[in-house]
Amino acid sequence: MKNIGILLSGRGSNFEAIARNIASGKIPDAKIAVVASNRADAGGLAIAQKLGIPTIVVPSKGKERKQHDQELFEALQPHNLDLICLAGYMRLLSPWLVQQFPQRILNIHPSLLPAFPGLEAQEQAFAYGVKIAGCTVHFVDEELDHGAIIVQRAVPVAENDDEHSLASRILEQEHLAYSEAINIVLEGKFEIVGRRLVRAH
Ligand code: GRF
Repeated sequence: MKNIGILLSGRGSNFEAIARNIASGKIPDAKIAVVASNRADAGGLAIAQKLGIPTIVVPSKGKERKQHDQELFEALQPHNLDLICLAGYMRLLSPWLVQQFPQRILNIHPSLLPAFPGLEAQEQAFAYGVKIAGCTVHFVDEELDHGAIIVQRAVPVAENDDEHSLASRILEQEHLAYSEAINIVLEGKFEIVGRRLVRAH
């Protein structure tokens, strides 16, 4: 049984999709051991509580990044995590924290990276006029929205889209992509060659 930790700051729909896929057996032999947030008001915490999953709040406001991450690390340690999934965690991790979990931290980003890193990626893509948008699940490294790519899903932009309708279709794909990526990583049949995740046959 692999222990997954979720880090989130907001509504938690990606977390909820992962939890649903674990419950239905689509992500086998795994459980969400803990949901941690830097914000006590994150909607995802309430979802976790409803599902009976332990929650942790480590407030980040006004704290130096590494100090906050050390507190977070201490709080996560008892849960023996095999994998950490950032799911709308609105805080850049310190290089120190990234190094505590080499190739064991994933993030989801609502664009086809390397296009549109950073905040409001769907709005950026829409305003840029792309015809194909999408989402990316990648390993976390020391740079923002940057590590090796595990899964991407494309979402065509429709003529009558606005940034909200596009974002909600991307979100549907995020909910599928994250579980797909978790399965690939937990199965462990891959290597990282340069930036490329290459799956074993
Ligand atoms: C998602 O769009 C995700 O790609 C981005 O933050 C948003 C989180 O949404 N990193 P939710 O909290 O999972 O609903």
